[in-house]
Amino acid sequence: MSDQNIILIGPMGSGKSTIGQLIASRLNRDFFDSDYYIEEKTGVNIPTIFDIEGEDGFRARETKALEELTNRKKLVIATGGGSVMREENRHILADGFIIFLDTSVNQQMARLRNDKKRPLLQTDNPREKLEKLFAERKPVYAELADLRIKTDRKFARKVAAEIIPQLPKNLT
Ligand code: S3P
Repeated sequence: MSDQNIILIGPMGSGKSTIGQLIASRLNRDFFDSDYYIEEKTGVNIPTIFDIEGEDGFRARETKALEELTNRKKLVIATGGGSVMREENRHILADGFIIFLDTSVNQQMARLRNDKKRPLLQTDNPREKLEKLFAERKPVYAELADLRIKTDRKFARKVAAEIIPQLPKNLT
């Protein structure tokens, strides 16, 4: 079996953590969520990091977290939605098998409408923000992806069940 990490990318609310956990338990791998890893290491939540250090401070912590996680083997890793926008991070992630969870802004809105934990969405018009991020990031997700799965109107279990048979045999 290959030691290669399986890495989930995609926008906020695409289900990276839930689907990642399902895939990990199915494949007998350890699961890590980079946001959660950052919170554990820092001892405070992400909104607090943004408040004190700004987005730049958070991004520096995110790069360090991705470095540490990808130094390990055979993991399933859920990344933060903005991680792919740093070239350094794209290099760090490139050794993994990358799955893009392709989710529409409508679906994101349905899932994140009342979210208080994502600093980038604490604006008067979260839809507009999601649309802007979607336009900037979607080509980057698509370019990095080894596998791309549409998640709209699907339960996490269904998405995970679709992914497993499409993984290269040496990863399962
Ligand atoms: C962000 C996504 C979040 C988190 C932070 C910034 C982004 O992760 O890293 O709030 O820039 O899209 P999720 O994609 O897990 O929500």
